[in-house]
Amino acid sequence: MIITVTLNAAIDKTLAVPSFRLGRRHRAVEQTSMAGGKGVNVARALKALGQPVIATGVAGGPTGTRIIEQLTDEAILNDFVRIREESRMSTAVVDPTSGEQTEINERGPAVSETELQLFVDKLLYLAKGAAICVFSGSLPRGVHSDLYSELIKELHRLGVTTVLDSEGEPLRLATWAAPSVVTPNEREAEELVGHEFADDEDRRTAIGEIAEMGASEAIMTLPDGCLALVGEEGDQAHPRRLFRATLEPLEPVSSIGSGDAFLAGYVAARYAGRADEDCLRFGVACGAESTQYFGAGVLDPREVERLMGEVSCEEEPALPLRR
Ligand SMILES: Nc1ncnc2c1ncn2[C@@H]1O[C@H](COP(=O)(O)OP(=O)(O)OP(=O)(O)O)[C@@H](O)[C@H]1O
Ligand SMILES: [Mg+2]
Repeated sequence: MIITVTLNAAIDKTLAVPSFRLGRRHRAVEQTSMAGGKGVNVARALKALGQPVIATGVAGGPTGTRIIEQLTDEAILNDFVRIREESRMSTAVVDPTSGEQTEINERGPAVSETELQLFVDKLLYLAKGAAICVFSGSLPRGVHSDLYSELIKELHRLGVTTVLDSEGEPLRLATWAAPSVVTPNEREAEELVGHEFADDEDRRTAIGEIAEMGASEAIMTLPDGCLALVGEEGDQAHPRRLFRATLEPLEPVSSIGSGDAFLAGYVAARYAGRADEDCLRFGVACGAESTQYFGAGVLDPREVERLMGEVSCEEEPALPLRR
């Protein structure tokens, strides 16, 4: 079983608004509303890819009830802790004329200490039957930045593989806790290592720095694929290697959540025991395929297989790692 954790679950509303401009009144030509939050998107894509997944996290108020009902309607297994404050709505405006996307995330609910303890107990219980746990997104108000870091250590004691996709302080602290995989996008990776990237040389160096901080595997998603340090140091059967996977970008319908689809693809392929290159190519194909739909985490597995043939994955020269 794969667990996805979403502590800032939401109802995601996506509106298509041609020629969107600030300060104007508009009419949406198309709209969707679905359960969201990064871990929920990952769970949706994993379900579409046929992998066993359970989505957990916290959800509150009428919006929380809608999130849980919509997940159940989609037949995505879920087990959320109910909290007192109301879960948030997130709105994305996609302009089909310019291709630009604007996202507005409401301030999420605060989580009390008692509610958080209920969640931690639930996660540790679910983890007894899980091989992989994916932590996605920001932390809610009222929760200390080291939560992911603490949970990663707990899950490692239970022998669970941990995957982390977050940003800022929670990402930095949790990277020190030696997660099995971290998957920042370029901007998040720049923030994590504390400098901007001018070229691929800088990106390769940063991947090494992230591994030195503690992550066993570091994957940086890029607009045209990913740069990934995978495998294990000192493991003859699964040596640590650096790869660059590339795909010619597609004309997107909406690229919101493509990072979540990438992550789901990578995790699904790993869970199925595929080789490193195939896991990365599959992840990139999933990220790309998900851009062809309005909803985050939505993809067609047959299209993913087709696109996978177009993803190249080359090994890059080894990095001089210090540890
Ligand atoms: N237009 C596109 N065509 C093909 N692939 C795309 C396109 N846009 C994104 N992708 C793929 O999706 C993956 C994720 O990209 P990105 O780094 O933008 O994630 P992200 O910023 O974390 O996204 P989000 O947080 O919204 O899920 C990458 O592997 C990238 O190749
Ligand atoms: Mg992302």
